[in-house]
Amino acid sequence: MALVMAHKGFKVIGIDNDKEKCKIIMQKKIPFFEPKSEDLLNATLDKNLKITSSLNSAVSNSDIIFICVGTPNNPDGSVNLSFLKKVSLNIGKALRNMNRYPVIVVKSTAPPGTTNNIVKTEIERVSSKKAGIDFGLATNPEFMREGSAIDDMLFPHLIVIGTNDLETKKKLHELYETMYKDNIPSILSTTIINSELIKYTNNAFLATKISFINTIANICSKTPGADVEIIAKAIGKDPRIGPLFLNAGPGYGGSCFSKDVSGFLNFSKSLGYTPILLESTQLVNQMQPILIVDMVEKKLGNIKNKKISILGIAFKKNTDDIRESASLEIIRHLLKKQAILNVHDPQALDNLRKVFKNKLKYCKDIIDCLFDTVCCLVLTDWDEYKKLKPKDFKAYMKNPFVFDARRIFNPQKMNSIEYLAIGYKAQNY
Ligand code: UGA
Repeated sequence: MALVMAHKGFKVIGIDNDKEKCKIIMQKKIPFFEPKSEDLLNATLDKNLKITSSLNSAVSNSDIIFICVGTPNNPDGSVNLSFLKKVSLNIGKALRNMNRYPVIVVKSTAPPGTTNNIVKTEIERVSSKKAGIDFGLATNPEFMREGSAIDDMLFPHLIVIGTNDLETKKKLHELYETMYKDNIPSILSTTIINSELIKYTNNAFLATKISFINTIANICSKTPGADVEIIAKAIGKDPRIGPLFLNAGPGYGGSCFSKDVSGFLNFSKSLGYTPILLESTQLVNQMQPILIVDMVEKKLGNIKNKKISILGIAFKKNTDDIRESASLEIIRHLLKKQAILNVHDPQALDNLRKVFKNKLKYCKDIIDCLFDTVCCLVLTDWDEYKKLKPKDFKAYMKNPFVFDARRIFNPQKMNSIEYLAIGYKAQNY
């Protein structure tokens, strides 16, 4: 967000209390893998973009302050709001001597009510100033995806502005109209509470869509002749359903869906309503890695001491993020059954090594990963895996058996090897 805003001509100050991270960014490096981000950093740093860990002076010199801190889960599934509280406290301190009317915007995803109950309360308490009189307060939920964050920021499908104050609404409309002047996306203005609910609902719906198609895939796996891809393609043509987010797979991962579905569940339960649909979304997702291991085991028999290759660790392609990735669960189950694992990922191996240490063979090369294995499990949809042909599996594997948990291959073209896939011939071989 900072990079795109700077690229669009705004003066942006990026603030982080992690000095090490700031140092890396100041050296024109991005401390994670995100396409196009390093180019934009090179183009904007020390021009429109400055980086600092000094919150006080940065906030005092800003007209609009976006809060983007993390809101991770607590072990019981509730949301940890301590970072939001801490940053609100620090913003409150910075506002004490400010005579302008800054606008504070919450971008972080948090349970409905958080902006008023935590952010506003804390800033008002520490600054002795009042929202709507001395400073503006708004929410502006985020719809960017990892792996395509820059493009999503450049071409958003919607901007949601949640505020109960006219002056703030006007300033944020002006900001986005200036930013997207040639191509202004639709802007929806609403209350803070609706805007907080929009974000949770959006992610809960997408997660449910994935668990829905995974459910159909699991039915297809047990139905001779069925193929979930054909079914998804057909239902996706119905404009009431739409074609996106109907790719069956090993279950959704990443830092958002699991966290937000469980945060939403928690929020709803605290009101005395248990949303069983969302509980099912979560349960289907938790079961998916186990089902995949079952299907592989059904084909291979006892997997103890069998050598298996895993292609793909990141929770999706074009990122090195392995948080909540289904691959981790699948690896844990396979290790428990004492399989021997070779793993490959174009970006995520360093992160994986921190979790599994010497329990896996980390392969920089796909061929090295496939070598001498009796099964290849495809768990992330990286483009380089799509280029593999049956002859590659035949040449390097001990037994060319591919389980395609991402549906990256055309089954018709895999006829010459043993090929099973999620929602396709997985159990009726
Ligand atoms: C998600 C939302 O898509 C964003 O709109 C939102 O801003 C973001 O969370 C957030 O709340 O910050 P992200 O988690 O980066 O974005 O990635 P997605 O593209 O949504 O993928 C999430 C998971 O679902 C991945 O593991 C992906 O492989 C899986 N997925 C996605 C499927 O299994 N099938 C699909 O058809 C689509």
